[in-house]
Amino acid sequence: MGKNLAQSKVTFYFCDGGSCRKAGSEAAIRKARAHLRNKGLWDESHTIKTKCNGRCEDAPTWIVQSGDYWYKEVDPGKAIRIIDAHCDHQQPLAPELIFREGQAKVNSEKEPPPVATPVFQRAQDEELGEVYKARGFHSDQYLYAFFLYLQENPGETELSLPNGTSFPFNDLRFVDYTDMYRLKLHFGKDEEAIIELVTALVPKTEPDELIKRKVTVCEHFIQIATDRKVIRLKDKMGRLVTSLQIAATDEKTWEYCLEIQLNNAVAPKVTLGA
Ligand code: FES
Repeated sequence: MGKNLAQSKVTFYFCDGGSCRKAGSEAAIRKARAHLRNKGLWDESHTIKTKCNGRCEDAPTWIVQSGDYWYKEVDPGKAIRIIDAHCDHQQPLAPELIFREGQAKVNSEKEPPPVATPVFQRAQDEELGEVYKARGFHSDQYLYAFFLYLQENPGETELSLPNGTSFPFNDLRFVDYTDMYRLKLHFGKDEEAIIELVTALVPKTEPDELIKRKVTVCEHFIQIATDRKVIRLKDKMGRLVTSLQIAATDEKTWEYCLEIQLNNAVAPKVTLGA
């Protein structure tokens, strides 16, 4: 039955993502809901199960609103104490907070290290010859953002398939990421070509062929002889899925790659004819 939101004074967001479940979130959630009902607080409160809150290292996590209070390692005993603090005293359970509105730093001993910035290394490539090479991020959070960027800012970039066919991003009509696992690039106006990439995490329960097609490598290259930039995507089996060619003159796209796709990486300068 729908909740009367006008009556609700406090909302508990229980993380129900994979890590929190593994860490026993369900026991605390059940206890919390039963406690709210028995205290006669059901109509004055709202409880919502969420997907991953992005703090798996502190699982199981809860967020309490208003006030943006984040809790860590919530077990059934702590669940009761959190509810009583918020509902009886309108106060957070301060020692158990990882974060609250206005706090400058997260209070967790399990704070993960910041995302590393890829570093360019000099290497010899079979196709490009002498290159600088950096391994980028291959998750769909990066790749989907990249293709959306290229749709709006095609620059002088084009996509090539292993069979040699190429598609300029100027011809990209739209990026469709409504499928569970596959991202589809629609090129061309009249004769449409659809390039399909498996970019989302594919669970082991899905067919093997789909699991093997997941993009798991994203490499950025600078060809030293030409200053041309190339990005290669490969699947789980090491097979080339597609490559993106960025013209040496297309500085804007390359700057975007360094800043967003490579987390502010510094690219070596290439002097042509040196
Ligand atoms: S699964 Fe709960 S924070 Fe990630």
